[in-house]
Amino acid sequence: MSFNSNLDTLYRQVIMDHYKNPRNRGVLNDSIVVDMNNPTCGDRIRLTMKVEDGKVDDAKFEGEGCSISMASASMMTQAIKGKDIETALNMSKIFSDMMQGNEYDDSIDLGDIEALQGVSKFPARIKCATLSWKALEKGVATDENAGDKS
Ligand code: FES
Repeated sequence: MSFNSNLDTLYRQVIMDHYKNPRNRGVLNDSIVVDMNNPTCGDRIRLTMKVEDGKVDDAKFEGEGCSISMASASMMTQAIKGKDIETALNMSKIFSDMMQGNEYDDSIDLGDIEALQGVSKFPARIKCATLSWKALEKGVATDENAGDKS
């Protein structure tokens, strides 16, 4: 087996593990709530997160979708918990670059998220992978707008 097919197998296992044993599945009370859906298939995700002093204290998700979208949401919540907002948004930008097949900043350790790299070769699945990250970006914008009003 070549190095690349070994890596593909490993990545597939990481994706299936997140799909079957999702991290941070559920709903947080008294939190920012974001509902997003993938218009191409109708699959949906609800992201709830708590932001304190510019830091993501906690994040959970629930929803219905394909293995890529659910695994990506699991990985995303795992990655952003405990991070400051700036770092979380930076990760979102890096992930977006990765999905578009662009060079991406590798100075931040993406952990399990690396396993989704191969999705960039399947344009129809990119929306699946980015659904939860779009929810994150919308949630941060909501939080910032709420801050302006107070
Ligand atoms: Fe619907 Fe992937 S097919 S989110």
